[in-house]
Amino acid sequence: MEYLKYSIEDNTIAELLGVQNFSNDEAAVLELVKNAYDAGASVVKLEFVDKTTLKITDNGDGMDSEDIKKHWMHIGKSSKGYDFIDTNNNVRVQAGAKGVGRFALSRLGENIQLYSKKAQKDGVVWKTDWDKSTLDLDFSIENKGTCIIINNLREKWTLRRIEKLNKYLEKTYNDTAMKIRIIANEYDEFVKLHFPKPEPGKNCRSNIVLKYNKGILSVLVLSDEFDSEAIKYCSEMDLNIYKSEVNIFDEFEGNEIAEVEGEELFSQLEKLGGFSVNLLFNLNATKQDKEKFYINI
Ligand SMILES: Nc1ncnc2c1ncn2[C@@H]1O[C@H](COP(=O)(O)OP(=O)(O)O)[C@@H](O)[C@H]1O
Ligand SMILES: [Mg+2]
Repeated sequence: MEYLKYSIEDNTIAELLGVQNFSNDEAAVLELVKNAYDAGASVVKLEFVDKTTLKITDNGDGMDSEDIKKHWMHIGKSSKGYDFIDTNNNVRVQAGAKGVGRFALSRLGENIQLYSKKAQKDGVVWKTDWDKSTLDLDFSIENKGTCIIINNLREKWTLRRIEKLNKYLEKTYNDTAMKIRIIANEYDEFVKLHFPKPEPGKNCRSNIVLKYNKGILSVLVLSDEFDSEAIKYCSEMDLNIYKSEVNIFDEFEGNEIAEVEGEELFSQLEKLGGFSVNLLFNLNATKQDKEKFYINI
């Protein structure tokens, strides 16, 4: 018996996984932003150098020639785990996993040059026209990180389009661990946080934060919901803050709607990873405001 492997033309992969795989160009840029985030960068710069060139630079961990061969050129297999702690002690849940995100580059442009360097390693330059790819050492790169130059952009990136890209990233990226800066001619803006830091009483009525880790769900309710009158009736309670911890194993045990019980319930819950939920009620609350909320899982 013989084991067989698929072989496929480079430009077919680029067409299928890049040009056709992304619903729009903004989503393709987001994929490259996610890669910078996963590499632990504290800032990623998107620079529209001229009408046909976009340069994406991050100060993340970078890649060496082995990474390029093992990870960058290996399709459909991601080396990424679930989460990691970055150099500023932020927990980052890794955004990539499917191992095809880099093909966003082929959606965006016809030629790519990628310069990358890992700490204590020689820099590398990888180039492609989606038919042939080359790899060389580059001793001129000084700092760790990755810089991708996308030449012959397929789309026209007008100022309006760039502003739209900024709004798109604002809505889809909601983290403070890495900043996104967009530069084009006179334009130089950081992507803002779409949802401000919740401050009950200032910009929202209440905020509920749930965090789940290893069977324990912690609940924090911050609220500006009650009139000072209410304190008369609940004098022993703090109406602005409420905290509790729920043991989810106890919660599900003997619960009739849970389809699994006992040992099986325990092993199912063991498999559940950590998650958090942040609910904001009445953002920018005024008395007439309708209730608004968002969920961030
Ligand atoms: N900006 C970057 N900095 C460092 N490594 C990167 C960067 N972009 C991509 N890589 C490496 O290339 C691999 C492939 O990226 P990608 O196709 O987006 O797949 P995924 O993110 O799902 O792993 C990543 O797993 C990572 O090892
Ligand atoms: Mg990715």
